Parts: sequence; C-alpha cells; structure tokens
Amino acid sequence: MGGGLVAAQGLAIQICEWDVATGALLETTPARLPSAIAPHDFVITENYYVFVLNGMELKLAPYVLGLCGPVGALLTTGEGVTLKLVPRPGSTAAKLGRKPLTVRTQDPYFAIHHANGLEELAVGGGAGEVPMIRLYTAAWPKVGAGPFLGDWGGAVPLYDDGKIAPTQLLQTTIRLFEEGASVERVVAVEACIDHPHVDPRFEGDHRCRYLYMSYCNDGAPSGSSGSPPIGWMRWDRQTGEQLVWKAPPRTFCEEVVVIPRPTAADEDAAVADAADCWIAGMMYDADRDASCLAILNGDDIEAGPVCRLWLSSAVPHGLHGCFSPGAVFGLD
Ligand SMILES: [Fe+2]
Repeated sequence: MGGGLVAAQGLAIQICEWDVATGALLETTPARLPSAIAPHDFVITENYYVFVLNGMELKLAPYVLGLCGPVGALLTTGEGVTLKLVPRPGSTAAKLGRKPLTVRTQDPYFAIHHANGLEELAVGGGAGEVPMIRLYTAAWPKVGAGPFLGDWGGAVPLYDDGKIAPTQLLQTTIRLFEEGASVERVVAVEACIDHPHVDPRFEGDHRCRYLYMSYCNDGAPSGSSGSPPIGWMRWDRQTGEQLVWKAPPRTFCEEVVVIPRPTAADEDAAVADAADCWIAGMMYDADRDASCLAILNGDDIEAGPVCRLWLSSAVPHGLHGCFSPGAVFGLD
C-alpha cells in the first residue's frame, strides 16, 4: 500500500495480549491508527491501549526508489501529537460500550518511550466523575518541521554546544468526557533523561509512585541540552523529589531494568510502591574500555551500585531489556 493511501486510511494494526506464564494468546484486538507510521512504543492501562502518534510524515517513494535510507524517508511535521485510545477487551470501558477514541492536539511534542500509564480516576467510577488517565513519557518537548533526527548532525549524535535537544520526562493527563477528551501535558523532570521505567508490579497501576531512568545532565539552564547518560535517577511522582547517582567521569550508564524485590511469600503481594526493588543497568568505563552490570538499591539509588559485575570487554550500547523471574539461560 502506498504511503498516501496509508496516510488517508490509517494504519491497520492488531494488538495482542499473551499470558506471561504459559505464552498463550489471550486477546487480539484490531484497530486503526490515524498515522502512516507505527509508533515506537505504546501504553496499556486497565481499560485502554493508548497510542501517542507524533507529527510525522513518510515519504515512501524516494525510499522505494533507493534514493534514501529508511530514516531519510521520515520527516517531522511540527504538528501536534494525536492520541488514539482503544478499549481493551473485557475491560469496564468495553463493557460500557466505549468506542476507540482519536484525540488531536496542537502540542508538537515527540513521544519516545513510555514509562507507565495509569488511571487516576477510574473508568466507570463514581457518578459524575470524569475518568482520568496519566501517561509518563520520555519525549522531546517540542519538535519542528524537518528531517527526523535532523539535529543529530551526522552518523552519530554530536552533543557539542547543545545541538541536540534534551529528552525529558513528560506527564500527560487525559480526561475522558462523554464526548471526546482533553489532553494536558507538563514537563515533570527538567533534567535530560531517558528510558524511564517503574516497578513492574505497578505497571498500569495508579499506586505507582517511583520512576527510574538514566540521567544525562541538568543542562544550563536546566534541561537545555542533550548529553550521553552519566548516571541514574529516581523520581517520586507524589513529591517530585529527584534522587541522582552520577557515575565517575568517562563512565556511561545504560537503560535500567527494574527488578521487584519480593518481601512476602507472594511477590505480587506488594500493596504500596515503596521502591522495594533492585535497579540493574550496564555501565561502560571508557578508561578501562570495559563494561559492567551494576546493581543499585531502588530505595537508596543515590548511594550508587551495591555491586559491579565486570566483563572482560566492552559491550556496545544496547536498548531495552526486561527481568524474568525464574528464567535462567545457559547456566546449569
Ligand atoms: Fe526504544
């Protein structure tokens, strides 16, 4: 299908849910996104799949003709993001007959990774109550028209002189009315950060309190420039407190994986988010030219790693991992 047709008709997708324990396919939901481009990430709340669609355009012809690479075919338009909310099968929203909802905004931010999405005021809650969804997203707060990643300056990001826009943590509030929805978003953390995550026991759960992320810099003024990640941060969404650990000079910190720390016989029994978790992340020491796996205490992140498991060589920059309890690969 040509790019023009995709743009006109939207992108047909299927959203699948699998059982983590058995691998069984539980649900398949067809949907249509008002975009030619599938988003990099999406959010699942109790009632909704939420897609934040950035203002982007796909120039397919030059790519098909071999005149440019895939990134060269992508342009940012400088237009506001569009949100698509799709009721989850079996949810209260589905039982209430809620239809998929498209919400267009005038806000030209650029969503990258979502840390969490949760329903602060429940769908089908109290009479007269307006359901409210919150999203926590690593994003560029404002993007204009131009080539995708156009400020990177070449084959690799060039961070000199604040040329690269910082990635910041945004909080988006969606209120669902009988007809349509309102969307507001604010910068929750002004420092340059990326790859925010939460304790997986609190994914999609309004009791979620802490977000963990790689920390890049505060800039000058705060959040004015991107930089490579040089530490890790914990943000408290109740109080706004930011706790930061900075690695030694010439050491760079990767995405975190949050590992629940079971304190009861049933590890799902946590009722409050008390930062009762381990934070795992890879670090690269440029002086040593070697990488290590660092483990930090979620409730004492500013103290730094409680251990570093050094490897004999450097590991390339990586993206996106997860922790699976009980799964052991390649070890007897
Ligand atoms: Fe990613």
